Amino acid sequence: MPLHVNPADPSRPDFVGDVADIDLRNADDSVRRAIEMAMDRFAVLIFHGQLFTDDEQIEFSSRFGSLGISTISLHPDHRQRFDSRLTDVSNIDIDNKIVPPTDRRWNGSMANRLWHADASFKTLPASYSMLSARVVPSWGGETEFSDLRAAYDALSPRMKTKLEGLVALHSMAFSRAKLGFSDFSPNETKTHAPVPQPLVRTLPRSGRKTLYLGSHAGEIVGMTVPEGRMLLHDLTEQATQREFVYRHTWKVGDFVIWDNRCTMHRGREFDMSEVRDMRRTTVNDSVPA
Ligand SMILES: [Fe+2]
Repeated sequence: MPLHVNPADPSRPDFVGDVADIDLRNADDSVRRAIEMAMDRFAVLIFHGQLFTDDEQIEFSSRFGSLGISTISLHPDHRQRFDSRLTDVSNIDIDNKIVPPTDRRWNGSMANRLWHADASFKTLPASYSMLSARVVPSWGGETEFSDLRAAYDALSPRMKTKLEGLVALHSMAFSRAKLGFSDFSPNETKTHAPVPQPLVRTLPRSGRKTLYLGSHAGEIVGMTVPEGRMLLHDLTEQATQREFVYRHTWKVGDFVIWDNRCTMHRGREFDMSEVRDMRRTTVNDSVPA
């Protein structure tokens, strides 16, 4: 079944597709294949008016592979609002009350505003993330996406040669430390052991090369910590120039799929006195990076 996809920004025809006229709750296997093909080109797809229940979102997302479990659920004090296959990207608690700025979960998730790729700190990291907008604030809370394939293509030949074969260490502790957050449970600490990931990877179906970056990356194997961090900093700066970035302003019912293997993303500030309720499903990649 063909998808009706238009580039969200005509000046960048191969990054971020806007999909029309489809109800994903009725998706069959031909829709899954069409989405995968479109994802190979665009890396980010935006759907509108997708009024999923939680079970429907889990069912739809499961068609693309096994689903990751929310790392928030690892903390003993956390009372999960729903199935742990859904990551709670909201500012409300189990009683539907807005959490205060001092809330532990909220402080941890503040790192979502740093450029990152979901679950890059896992040995088998995420391929697709799928985020459903249930309640959106009246201003702010946008999500920005960076195209790491285009950023790689634009590197100098000298830099491409330098990056060949380099391995970065990723840990959730690295990204949280950037904001001064270190309140981890023993269970979380165990899962935060640094995981090696290639700095450049080749995408399985398209064969395109891409950077693999994000705030979870904290060191480069074989380099001093400052040298590795400087390289990661420079690459992130390069990849987040405006020419490689698309900003999505959410409406209720928007459902966005992005490929973590070749994009970074970050949330933007919003009015914390208003509810922002987003729910994410995350597909585990089938092979290591
Ligand atoms: Fe994220």
